[in-house]
This record gives sequence, C-alpha cells and structure tokens, in this order.
Amino acid sequence: MQDSIPDDPWHVDPAGFTACGSTRERLRFLVAYAVLAPSGHNTQPWIFRFLSEDKIELRADRSRGLRVVDPDDRALVISCGAALANLRLAATALGVTLHVEVLPEAVDPDLLARIHYAGEFHPAAPDGDAVLRALMARRTTRRRFSTESLPSMAMDAATQAVEQDGDATLEWAIDQDRKHALALLIAEGDRAQMADPAFRRELADWVHSRRAASRDGISGAAFGMPDLLSFAGALVIRSFDMGDGQAARDLALAEGAPALAVITTYNDTPRDWMAAGEAMERALIQLARDGFTYSYLNQPIEVPNLRPRLAAALSTTQSPQILIRIGRALADVPPAVRRPVSEVLRG
Ligand SMILES: Cc1cc2nc3c(=O)[nH]c(=O)nc-3n(C[C@H](O)[C@H](O)[C@H](O)COP(=O)(O)O)c2cc1C
Repeated sequence: MQDSIPDDPWHVDPAGFTACGSTRERLRFLVAYAVLAPSGHNTQPWIFRFLSEDKIELRADRSRGLRVVDPDDRALVISCGAALANLRLAATALGVTLHVEVLPEAVDPDLLARIHYAGEFHPAAPDGDAVLRALMARRTTRRRFSTESLPSMAMDAATQAVEQDGDATLEWAIDQDRKHALALLIAEGDRAQMADPAFRRELADWVHSRRAASRDGISGAAFGMPDLLSFAGALVIRSFDMGDGQAARDLALAEGAPALAVITTYNDTPRDWMAAGEAMERALIQLARDGFTYSYLNQPIEVPNLRPRLAAALSTTQSPQILIRIGRALADVPPAVRRPVSEVLRG
C-alpha cells in the first residue's frame, strides 16, 4: 500500500482522490485508472514518468512488444492509447482538467503523450461515478454471450464514443451475411496463426495459471480453461497446432455474437494507432456502462494478407485496427492481473 493508491490498481477507491495531498499524488491516482486498460496479451506495455510535480509523460515500453503477432508495435501503441483514454476519462469523472499532447516530439517515437495536470473544475462531471464504475467493470470476456440483440441506443452510443474526435470510425456487422463474411476471415486467421510455431510460442509465454504470482499475461482461466488445466495450457498451446479447433470455436463465437464491430482509421501511422486505442477504450467503457461486454477477434487484422480482405468485406478504404464481438455476458469474469502503479510510474 502506498498512500491512497493500493498496490493492486483494481482496488483503487474513488473516495481516496480527495484525500490526495498533492498534485503529484493525484496524478498517481489517475495512473491507477490508466493501467486498468486492456493490452495485447496483457503485456501492459506502458511507462509513465514524472516530468515535474504536475506533468507526466506516457512512453511505449517496447521491451514488452510482441515480435511475432505485432511486429510493428501497432497493437502496443493501441494499448497505450487505451491507457491514455482511461486516464482522460478518470480525470473528467473526478473533475480534473488535463492538457494532453499526443506524440509531441517527432524525434522521440517512444514518447506517446505529455500530460499536464491543469487543475480542478467544480462540480465534477455528473456521470463521473458511472464512468469510474465502468472503468472497473470493463473485462475482455472470451466466452459465449447471451443471444439478446444489441439495442440501437447502445450501438449509437458506442459509435459516438469511437467517432467523437473524427479520427476513427466504427463499422458494424449485425446481419448474418456480414457476420458470416467476417467470421470466415477470423477462422482463416486462426488457422494461419496457429500453424506458426513462433506465434504459438509467443502466446504460450504470456499464458499462466491463475495462481501464478505474475502481474501481467493472461490466466488460462480467461480462456475458459479450468485452473488445473491452465498449468498445462501453455504447454499445449506451445506444442500443438490447434488451428482447426480454434477456427471452429471462433467461427461459432463470431456468427453467434449479437454484433461484430471494427474500428478503422484513415491512415495507418502511430498517430492513427493512438487514436484507435483511445476510440476503442471510450467505446468499451460506454458499452460497460450500458451493461455489455466484448472480446477481440483481431486475427484478420494481425495476419497481413487478410487485412485488405477484411477492409473489402466491410466496403471501406480505411485501415481496420480492432475487431470485437459485443454482447451481454452470461457469467462474470474475474479481473485480469495488473502491475502495481509503483512499477509503471517512475520519477
Ligand atoms: C490491442 C489489443 C489486442 C488484443 N488482442 C487480443 C486477441 O487477439 N485475443 C484475445 O483473446 N485478447 C486480445 N486482447 C485482450 C487482452 O488479452 C486483454 O485486454 C488482457 O488480457 C487484459 O484483460 P482485460 O481486458 O479483461 O482487462 C487484446 C487487447 C488489446 C488492447
């Protein structure tokens, strides 16, 4: 336990914010919300660093990059964009004004954002409590969803959350034909990825038992494995090409989902990836507020020759960045582990 910031960020309590004695401590409090963001394989590839008492920077931790599935660090930067969105959402919810510069130095590509704590406004946002609860409630839910369709109000709110800044778009697949077209690409992506031993090795390196002491990576339980099996899970992933089984499972998940949605951007640069990450997280938090959950089916974006085919299936000229399925969870999912704030916030 360090001041009002618990070691495990999932235990951060909004009531502790007013007890923070300094701007420095308030920034640490906001970083606790930032690190609740999702990240590829739960690598948490971010570093926050104090520049002064009221300024921090967000840097890419490329030592946590996924060389095989994400060779250009595209998903890594998207994950950092999601962390920045969480920080901004928590700030607004707690009544804090931030000034944020994204990618401020062309010569320093690891510097993703500079964040200035500019003061507090009163009263705090009226929906602040709901936003803070949703930041805690968001989960990647890999199991089957209820068949209940997604109400148009929830779709509109998610679209608005993605598109509010004008640099990302949300494409929906609701009807069976469009879902089927995407599901076939997802299944093809599964077979291509699982046939690659390097892909399987990298995934296995980040899968662990729920009882393992690690504060990053994915618990076997999150994939739906019983905990005993998840000891063996990494070994199985590493050793066998389960592409056909994975493809069949994901095909059924994608076709059976109430909705599939793809976040796209105009270009495909680090600035677009940051924007995609921020847009994605705003939408995921909005969906959590509306009682919906999601999981990733990014395979046709990660496998290079499938990405243009996904864009064609969506009839878009933009770059697909994230593919998710959305629905209502049938059971609660425990939170995925997080590294402590003291480890990722330096200086
Ligand atoms: C850019 C990005 C890509 C991801 N890709 C996948 C994926 O392909 N398959 C998957 O099961 N989860 C994927 N995830 C989800 C992470 O594994 C998940 O966020 C992490 O394990 C933490 O769990 P949580 O989201 O429940 O907090 C991705 C997350 C992000 C941000």
